[in-house]
Amino acid sequence: AQERTLSIIKPDAVAKNAVGDIISRFEKAGLQVVACKMVNLSKDKAEGFYAEHSERPFFNDLVSFMTSGPVVVQVLEGDNAIAKNRELMGATDPKKAEAGTIRADFATSIDANAVHGSDAPESAQREVAYFFSDEEICPRG
Ligand code: CMP
Repeated sequence: AQERTLSIIKPDAVAKNAVGDIISRFEKAGLQVVACKMVNLSKDKAEGFYAEHSERPFFNDLVSFMTSGPVVVQVLEGDNAIAKNRELMGATDPKKAEAGTIRADFATSIDANAVHGSDAPESAQREVAYFFSDEEICPRG
């Protein structure tokens, strides 16, 4: 089915100048970028985005990492976009990520792991709406 998913290119990958390389992987896999912006996340915005992890021991490190530099937030659209994006990203921990995935190629640790992608239709809908208004999304049909 046609789906939308939220992708974040994290501060480590932006700092490595890997934005184009990563977007290119999405496009080559048949996903279309239908919304895109570079932002510096505030502490509040990052905490709200990751609210479900607020009780986890890594929460503070995660928020401070995500606010350490600009990120590129995108909506990707396409057939099976949520799972396809997760396949392209590879495992959360780059040490476990399959060769050729974004995290295997660009991530350095489970914290600095290059990209985020929604993990299910419900989270995709919530995460897209957290960053983009309807007018900012440009379906390509
Ligand atoms: P992300 O997909 O952005 O969602 C939450 C992030 O927390 C995850 O990627 C990792 O970068 C980070 N993180 C740090 N430690 C852990 C952990 N033990 N388990 C899951 N995520 C972790």
